[in-house]
Amino acid sequence: MAIREIVYLGDPVLRAEAEDVTVFDDDLRVLVRDMFETMYHADGIGLAAPQIGVSTRVIVVDLRRQDEDEPEPQRVAVVNPVVTWASKEVAKQTEGCLSIPGLEEVVQRPVAVTVAGQDPDGNELVVEADDLFARALQHEIDHVDGILFVDRVSPLKRRMLLKKWKKIEAEAAAEAG
Ligand code: NI
Repeated sequence: MAIREIVYLGDPVLRAEAEDVTVFDDDLRVLVRDMFETMYHADGIGLAAPQIGVSTRVIVVDLRRQDEDEPEPQRVAVVNPVVTWASKEVAKQTEGCLSIPGLEEVVQRPVAVTVAGQDPDGNELVVEADDLFARALQHEIDHVDGILFVDRVSPLKRRMLLKKWKKIEAEAAAEAG
């Protein structure tokens, strides 16, 4: 297992339509393990392969909830994930992204979704999720389509976010000397 480097907004891999996974081999299982490890290390609740520079359709989510009243596991790796159903009901909640650290904004999404795909061994997988679990899955599936949460806010808010990101980037560059 290894912690991989997370890429940031501005890297073209985050804007690419990621490739379907067709081979379910040890390389894929290593990728998935590394994605979980990288996500835990960064203290995130979700990660998509493009975020570590790998343009394939793989996502991981782990809410790491300790709730007694949340008995269903909310930890999953989905290969070739597709939203097959989304609730008409929507909700607004603040989102951030490991690839855009320092920025967050309220994003509207369906409250519940059904996601289909495969597990890392190639078995068919269907995940029914609501609330934060559904939100995290939708955010990560966006990533494999090259979509970021800053694309899901109003044009005005998007301009403000991108302006703030430029400032964060400039500060980081100045620190790096
Ligand atoms: Ni993200």
